[in-house]
Amino acid sequence: MNWDDTETDMDDDLTQAELTHLQRLTDADADGDDRAVEAALRPKTLDEVIGQVRVRDQLGLVLEAARRRGRAPDHVLLSGPPGLGKTTLAMIIAAEMSTPLRLTSGPAITHAGDLAAILSGLNEGDVLFVDEIHRMSRPAEEMLYMAMEDFRVDVVIGKGPGATAIPLEIPSFTLVGATTRAGLLPGPLRDRFGFTAHLEFYEAHELDRIVHRSAGLLDVHLTAEGSSEIASRSRGTPRIANRLLRRVRDYAQVRADGVLTLPVAKAALEMFEVDESGLDRLDRGVLDALCRRFGGGPVGISTLAVAVGEERETVEEVAEPFLVRSGLLARTPRGRVATPAAWRHLGLTPPAVPTVDSTLFDEV
Ligand SMILES: Nc1ncnc2c1ncn2[C@@H]1O[C@H](COP(=O)(O)OP(=O)(O)OP(=O)(O)O)[C@@H](O)[C@H]1O
Ligand SMILES: [Mg+2]
Repeated sequence: MNWDDTETDMDDDLTQAELTHLQRLTDADADGDDRAVEAALRPKTLDEVIGQVRVRDQLGLVLEAARRRGRAPDHVLLSGPPGLGKTTLAMIIAAEMSTPLRLTSGPAITHAGDLAAILSGLNEGDVLFVDEIHRMSRPAEEMLYMAMEDFRVDVVIGKGPGATAIPLEIPSFTLVGATTRAGLLPGPLRDRFGFTAHLEFYEAHELDRIVHRSAGLLDVHLTAEGSSEIASRSRGTPRIANRLLRRVRDYAQVRADGVLTLPVAKAALEMFEVDESGLDRLDRGVLDALCRRFGGGPVGISTLAVAVGEERETVEEVAEPFLVRSGLLARTPRGRVATPAAWRHLGLTPPAVPTVDSTLFDEV
C-alpha cells in the first residue's frame, strides 16, 4: 500500500470538522490525555500482567523470597524494546513489596552529585527506578557500582590535590534499572544486578487479551474480531495495542456507533496508516528509502535515518527491531539490507539475486 494514496483517501472521505476532531485526538498522544489513559491501563500487580510468563514467574519468586526474608530484593535489570512493560514492572515491584517507588532516569543524572543526593534521600527498602540507565554519566555510574554493592558512596569534596572523599552510608535499597539497550551497559554495572529480565515481544493472542482488558477498563464495546484485528497490527507491543485501541475508539465514536467491530477497526487503522502487518508510516518510510533510494542496500543506519528525516536512535530502536523481526530488513556487517519480502511488501519486484555470491570466494 502506498501511503500517499491513503492520505488522499482520508481527505476525500472525511469532512473538515471530523478531520479536526480526529487530529486533536491524535495530537493528544503527546500530552496529558493519552498519558493519563496509559497510566490507567497499566497492570498494578504481577497477577494482572498478561504474557511474559517466564519473567513473571521468575520475578514473582525473587520478590516472594525477599518478602519471606524480610529484606529488600536484589537489584533488578529490565531490558527490552520500548513499550513492552519495563516501567510497568518497576512499579509492580515497588507495589508488591509495599514500598514507595523513587523515579529518575539516566539522562537526568549528569553529575555524580545528582546521584548522591538521590541515594542519600532514600529510606530503608525503597525501590529506586532508573529509567534509560544506559544513558547515565560515567562518574555517576561508578558511584552507583559502590552503592549497589556496599550501600555506601564516596562524596568528593573540593577539587585537585586538596579533594577529600567522605564516605556516606546509604540505606539498603533495591535498584530497578530499565534499558532498551542492554548491550550499551558496562559489564561491571550489568554484573551487579542480581536478576535480569529480558522482555520479549508479545504473541498476538496475548495482545488480544491486553486489548480486551484495556477495552474493559475504558468501558469500550468491542467484538472479538475487532480486538484481534487491533492485536494483529500491534507489532508485538502492548503500548501500541493500547494506542491503536484508543484511535479505533475515536474513530468508532466519530464515524460509527461507538462499537469496535472488524470493519470499524479496519477503516480506522487504514486511516491512521497502520497496515495489515502493523507497519506504520515510519516503518514503510524506512523500507521505501532502502529499496527505492538505495537499491535495497547495504546502507548504513545513519544514512538511512537522514533519508527518512528521523534520528538514528528512532530508526534503530523504534522501526528496525520490528522490521528485522518481520523478516523485512536484515543487518549485515556492511549495512542494512532489504529482504525480498520488503520489496514485495511495497508492491515492488525484488531485484534478481546473483546466483553466486562472489564474497564466498574471498578466501579461495
Ligand atoms: N504485560 C502487560 N499486560 C498488559 N498491559 C501491558 C503489559 N505490559 C505493558 N502494558 C501496557 O503497555 C504500556 C507500556 O508499558 P511500559 O510503559 O511499561 O513500557 P516500557 O517498556 O517502560 O517502555 P519504554 O521503553 O518506552 O519506557 C503500559 O501503559 C501498559 O498499560
Ligand atoms: Mg518505560
